[in-house]
Amino acid sequence: MAVTISLVGPPAADVLAALQSASFAGECWTAGSWSTLLHQPGVAARLARPPTSNAPVGMLLTRVIAEQAEVLTVGVVPASRRRGVAAALMADFLRVCRHDRVAEVALEVAADNAAATALYNALGFRPAGRRRRYYTTRDGAAVDAAVMVLDLRQSTRTAPAR
Ligand SMILES: CC(C)(COP(=O)(O)OP(=O)(O)OC[C@H]1O[C@@H](n2cnc3c(N)ncnc32)[C@H](O)[C@@H]1OP(=O)(O)O)[C@@H](O)C(=O)NCCC(=O)NCCS
Repeated sequence: MAVTISLVGPPAADVLAALQSASFAGECWTAGSWSTLLHQPGVAARLARPPTSNAPVGMLLTRVIAEQAEVLTVGVVPASRRRGVAAALMADFLRVCRHDRVAEVALEVAADNAAATALYNALGFRPAGRRRRYYTTRDGAAVDAAVMVLDLRQSTRTAPAR
């Protein structure tokens, strides 16, 4: 699906909180937490909208500090999955990272999250460690986090197509 990606700030906190709740099974951040995060240095949120509607179907939250970037969260509503929405959000972010000479993008993903792990693998992220019992599921089970890293120094740096 061709989506339009836009950068949004603290006024979109409500929309982001609703999208996160619709995308994730577990506990989500309140609109207040989103707003606080979006005021932090280097933090940016993106929304993905389909061509036929103004309602966003996916979101991406990232942080860039100097040469280091992090993916803080990414989510797509169930009805719009496997149509390239998360890949489009990530591609937009990675294009800007390359342009801004970011060296490395890191993230944490629950070790049992096959969909997200497949997405990151497809984008070139590689395993870089494990945080034992990092997440707690709703039923109280502990799940490891896999740390994954994309080394942008290894790939071609291109100017963003805006
Ligand atoms: C993970 C998530 C963001 C993927 O979003 P999406 O828009 O469906 O992903 P895309 O359609 O862009 O997928 C791109 C590629 O990632 C991989 N992928 C994505 N979902 C997959 C799945 N369920 N199973 C296997 N591979 C998958 C595939 O390689 C896919 O390419 P393909 O469809 O051409 O095979 C979505 O499933 C989601 O919101 N999950 C719940 C929230 C979550 O777990 N977020 C990640 C937290 S770290």
